[in-house]
Amino acid sequence: MSNVHITAIVLAAGKGSRMQSDIPKQYMLIEDKPVLYYSLKAFEESSVDDIVLVVSEDDVSYCKENIVDKYSINKVKSIIVGGSERYWSVKNGLLSAKGADYVLIHDAARPCLTVDVIERSIAEVKITGACTVGVPVKDTIKRVDDDCYGEETPPRNYLWQVQTPQSFLYKDILKAYEYMEESNDTDITDDTMIMERFLGVKTKLIMGDYCNIKITTPEDLLVAKIFLKKVKKVVDTI
Ligand code: CTP
Ligand code: MG
Repeated sequence: MSNVHITAIVLAAGKGSRMQSDIPKQYMLIEDKPVLYYSLKAFEESSVDDIVLVVSEDDVSYCKENIVDKYSINKVKSIIVGGSERYWSVKNGLLSAKGADYVLIHDAARPCLTVDVIERSIAEVKITGACTVGVPVKDTIKRVDDDCYGEETPPRNYLWQVQTPQSFLYKDILKAYEYMEESNDTDITDDTMIMERFLGVKTKLIMGDYCNIKITTPEDLLVAKIFLKKVKKVVDTI
């Protein structure tokens, strides 16, 4: 019997400015349910022990009543308030995950998360201590100069698009965040960067799912609706 404790931190405290909608994208409805519901449900059905949900101050009671209680997401142990940037929301989530051996950090804006992706992340983080799901890029990627002329074409077989969950040994990611706070570095876009930059720890990339997209701009919502139908079938047959 394993007594390892695994906590999922689900981030839903963003404003969704690139979505340009009246309500934040994590609360927009797909098939009558908010985007946030779908990843919470995947964690509920997985082997994680509990969930820390990070939201904006104004949304704590809405989330509790209309998502967590309504859909019986019983693994949510706390609903906490996030910060002005994604990394401050993660930091708050980490402080609420005390007692965890491993944490899986996930963007609520990725509703097409499957139990399979979660279980493979858990298996890998137990081996490497730091892993993320991602997918090999399909397009050629250019690094451009300030005038938008292509300057370099990195070999595609070394390029991956990074997704979430990103999974870490709790004590390591907490330490990396403490070092980050002591620095003035703020051009951070995800947690693997924080591990690289402040702890010198490499993150292992494992195959995620091309359906596990992040809803960022309006057209992503259309794609997510279709992908969600596809992956829900996968979840149902597990
Ligand atoms: N997030 C968060 N706290 C923040 C910013 C973001 O918890 N201060 C969460 C978002 O809710 C989202 C995830 O982090 O689930 C990924 O962020 P992103 O896609 O950038 O969402 P937003 O910041 O909400 O969108 P935008 O950057 O377009 O404003
Ligand atoms: Mg953002």
